[in-house]
Amino acid sequence: MRYILFFAGLFFICLPGCQSDAQPRKTGIAQGGNDFIDSLMAEMTLEEKIGQLTLYTSGWDVTGPTLNDDYKQELVSGRVGGLFNAHTVGYARDLQRMAVEETRLGIPLLFGYDVIHGYKTIFPIPLAQACSWDLDMMRESARLSAKEAASAGLNWTFNPMVDIARDPRWGRIAEGGGEDTYLVSRIAEAKVKGYQGDDLTDPFTLLACVKHFAAYGAAQAGRDYHTVDMSERVLRETYLPPYKAAIDAGVATVMSSFNEVDGVPASGSSYLMKDILREEWGFQGFVVTDYTSINEMVPHGVVKDEKEAAALAINAGIDMDMQGGVFNQYLAQLVEEGKVPLAEIDNSVRLILQAKIDLGLFEDPYRYMDENREKETVFSTELMDHALESAKKSMVLLKNEEVNGSPLLPLSQSTRKIALIGPLADNKIDLLGTWHASGDESKVKTLLASLREAAPNADIQYVKGAGFEGDDQSGFEEAISAANAADLVIMAIGENYRQSGEAASRSQLGLPGPQQALLEKVHATGKPLVTVVMAGRPLTITWMHDNVPAILYAWHLGTQSGPAIADVLFGNYNPAGKLTITFPRNVGQIPIYYSMKNTGRPFLEEQKYTSKYLDVPNQPLYPFGHGLSYTTFSYGDVSLSQNSLDMGGSLTASVQVTNSGDREGEEVVQLYIRDLVGSVTRPVKELKGFQKISLQPGQSQTVTFTIHTDDLAFYTRDMSHKAEPGDFKVFIGTSSADTKEADFTLTDNSQ
Ligand code: NOJ
Repeated sequence: MRYILFFAGLFFICLPGCQSDAQPRKTGIAQGGNDFIDSLMAEMTLEEKIGQLTLYTSGWDVTGPTLNDDYKQELVSGRVGGLFNAHTVGYARDLQRMAVEETRLGIPLLFGYDVIHGYKTIFPIPLAQACSWDLDMMRESARLSAKEAASAGLNWTFNPMVDIARDPRWGRIAEGGGEDTYLVSRIAEAKVKGYQGDDLTDPFTLLACVKHFAAYGAAQAGRDYHTVDMSERVLRETYLPPYKAAIDAGVATVMSSFNEVDGVPASGSSYLMKDILREEWGFQGFVVTDYTSINEMVPHGVVKDEKEAAALAINAGIDMDMQGGVFNQYLAQLVEEGKVPLAEIDNSVRLILQAKIDLGLFEDPYRYMDENREKETVFSTELMDHALESAKKSMVLLKNEEVNGSPLLPLSQSTRKIALIGPLADNKIDLLGTWHASGDESKVKTLLASLREAAPNADIQYVKGAGFEGDDQSGFEEAISAANAADLVIMAIGENYRQSGEAASRSQLGLPGPQQALLEKVHATGKPLVTVVMAGRPLTITWMHDNVPAILYAWHLGTQSGPAIADVLFGNYNPAGKLTITFPRNVGQIPIYYSMKNTGRPFLEEQKYTSKYLDVPNQPLYPFGHGLSYTTFSYGDVSLSQNSLDMGGSLTASVQVTNSGDREGEEVVQLYIRDLVGSVTRPVKELKGFQKISLQPGQSQTVTFTIHTDDLAFYTRDMSHKAEPGDFKVFIGTSSADTKEADFTLTDNSQ
């Protein structure tokens, strides 16, 4: 406790001085407090310093080996700087009390948790949220989840996850924003600002942690934790920008990834942690490892034992050891042996103490621990309303064909007999999706209950029909008779929450278990059929696309899944989501993404020796950017303010978009460019902007984008980042595969 009291006095005395020489900093960590840190560090033993670099799990929600069961003993010895998976005010307060009152120096703890898409009130999985293309909504999701988590004793979230992912076999694709570098970078900024707000001392905010640095999403063959191997060009151009965007937005912490990059595990890579993160990008917060990734450098095979691993990590620029225990075990010895400079440890301690100051923990270590606030905030109306709103915005209507002369969706209130079939129809827990923190399934209203509420006059018969695993078909008969007796069938099928997320890679991406067989049997009844697919990744639903007239991709939408889906099915909400990840036709097409290169032999039907498969088209099942509405939009031609652009300048590209249908709707207007000739090959299309607009039936709007020279920059042959003169195409449209185009030339008059 003594340092808390001391801090109160010192803060008061030093404030004017601290302010006068304050420089704007690039991170969310505020200026000031250095005198305090100096005097605190002067009191600290080496062991206490190393303690600040140590984070342990409390034993809840463990996702890996727990190396230290006796973390409380370690805590009171001053050998712990933070805990994770310790939450609720009742639980965390006692741990904070131990740190503040029972340790020699009384330094308060950080409390981290994976608040990925909500703490208790669960919002859609991040991949689903991204499909809203609504940055304000995503920022608000982060703000509200911070508010809820911070009311429960937490002060740090391990989010946003901004790993670009182009392989849906990788289960963690659910946790990020999808395949596109530009879009995921914008989402990274929105989420950091949402979690951290403008002032970290505001007790409704959390420290954010951008992860997993770097390129974790490129695991070979989509197998989690697997090798990553890519050129520096691809690393810098495709994978690094979202982390950089988070840092420019002020993110307070960074998490290193499990994978290797160019042969060096990230937690031992000074190239990533020092050269790029600190020197190139100027990051001033602290870096925590992902779980035991320091220890894992032994099986990676770059060090012979954990002691060497600890030295490699700290010297590479890692500041905090999550759960590995190796900093605590070896750093003091390594300093004595001269293998780790004390300055490395001091640096890291400073950064971590600074984060605690920025949170206001030295002024009041219990500022996140108010039971009344927790009661008022958790599941508040504000959170539940946002859960509904964000769930509606995240769904993607993939297909909606006419049945008996009109599109099958939205459903008419006059539909009398509905059969609702599938393992997700009367389900709660799986709707919360992967990493649902402390999500409480008792607050979830099932789709069945929600449909009965939305259509009180309909007779809705529910049959589960199948599970998510194995091949038990004993429920099929009942499902088929319910379908036969109905006017319309809705099938709620897909993945359970454990089938995506960490350590949940899949080699086959069809509907898991007997669901495909059930779908085919129900389809054979000939009844009008709508599928609602809930999943954490794109599934290969090619048969479904070929046979089912209406497909709503609902992902895992969280606490308010049921009412949100019912609203879309009955037309109370007009869906506007667009895919931020390409849907392959089969696993053999992976990796497949819209911004591919052209190759030297682009596909030509009439020529055999061109780039293609013998058994599947090159095109995906659904392209990036695809998503339908209950209305239709027509696009005029693209007009440019000029056809020639000089280096350093900008031009505008406009298009008129008209709501050509008969109901109000929202449309995500997408801007792509292509650099036709570069010193290195360029993608066939790259997203450079988007605008989400809302139009009444018959209404038109001119949508204008400004294209700056900077938007055309890339890593040229000599690895400088710049635009090159030459010809460009501009595309504007409703998806990456459905655009209008225009041309311009970039000139460099200075040469
Ligand atoms: C491992 C995961 O990779 C990471 O994303 C998460 O934040 C930590 N475990 C802590 O739970």
